[in-house]
Amino acid sequence: MGARKYIGRLQELPTPFYFYDMDLLRSTLATAVSEASRYGYRIHYALKANFDPRIVETIRQAGLGADCVSGNEVRAAIEAGFPAEGIVFAGVGKTDREIEYALGQDIFSFNCESAAEMEAINAVAERMGRRARVALRINPDVDPMTHRYISTGKADNKFGISYTEIDRVIASLKRLSHLEIVGLHFHVGSQIGCMEVFEHLCERVNAIRSWFRERGIVLRHLNMGGGLAVDYENPDREPIPDFAAYFAVFNRRLETEPGQTVHFELGRSLVGQCGDLVTRALYGKTTAARTQVVIVDAGMTDLIRPALYGARHRIENLTSSGKPRTYTVVGPICESSDTFATGIELPETSRGDLLAIRTAGAYGMAMASRYNLRDLPGAVYSDALPTGRQ
Ligand code: LLP
Repeated sequence: MGARKYIGRLQELPTPFYFYDMDLLRSTLATAVSEASRYGYRIHYALKANFDPRIVETIRQAGLGADCVSGNEVRAAIEAGFPAEGIVFAGVGKTDREIEYALGQDIFSFNCESAAEMEAINAVAERMGRRARVALRINPDVDPMTHRYISTGKADNKFGISYTEIDRVIASLKRLSHLEIVGLHFHVGSQIGCMEVFEHLCERVNAIRSWFRERGIVLRHLNMGGGLAVDYENPDREPIPDFAAYFAVFNRRLETEPGQTVHFELGRSLVGQCGDLVTRALYGKTTAARTQVVIVDAGMTDLIRPALYGARHRIENLTSSGKPRTYTVVGPICESSDTFATGIELPETSRGDLLAIRTAGAYGMAMASRYNLRDLPGAVYSDALPTGRQ
């Protein structure tokens, strides 16, 4: 349903803005937490998906941990009140300053992505007179069958420690006395809709985990990353992703040792469906090739996913009930890639109509920029709407 349900109270607001359905967010979180807790799994929210303070606060209240990929994300999580023991810190390029800050906060673990990074974390920890808890992020060479820009677990991706390098990494551990290896970390990609990918991941992890056990290395935690897809085509079909099926795969396929805990880092599946980008139609025009174009006041600076990945978000006209027409919907930015959709059907659309670009809660606002010196879009929450007509 998205913003449509609240249209009466949205009509006068300045556009573009992100609209968040807070009830949907809360029920999504409740479902994810209850499905995960059947098996004792722990979820860390991937802050990169959306760091809006109210969203983050709601997620903290639901009892999730945080998954961060920069020092500033670690700081944001700490400032939002996430307990340090629920914070993990990944990323291929952590700077010494970021490592120092996170170590100072005594976070749960660093997801360490290379032999060189292990040396750096060890050196910082030594300087600070501490031991850093580290999970080794292993690149398991699993094809997530998703867009190549968001594939992270294939052999030639920049992420994780290659399995060809594990021997060398293990050998170096004796020397790196300021590291405590607490687990293994995997994250093979995002927007993964095919459960076989996660089954395949489990098989690889089972093999890697036994390899460590044979070498006498006890791992307290397995972190399986994130990646569960959302339905962009039809957001109302399954507004809450199928967390039951997702966690059941790991319960069925992942072998664990007694006392070993299993962690996940979910982003998109928790916040994707609760957000719509609401925009207003500015102008219509017909090109020489007879394409009917609607120019809206949101652009790729507000939601870059269509321009960057060719992503398709469902678009709805919230205020017109005219005859269906075929349109191309574009933004005002000086780039031809600033196109939200081509050849889609909408009710006849005129200047002033409000449009919702659906499933924009994840990697929408978080990737917004000020290109063309545009203002950043605002945020409107379903439980804090200006009073007016419903
Ligand atoms: N953990 C790590 C180490 C990650 O790199 C990511 C996402 C996640 C967890 C969360 O994955 P999720 O559950 O959200 O799939 N901007 C792109 C998505 C980039 C994902 C980057 N990493 C998009 O708009 O599709």
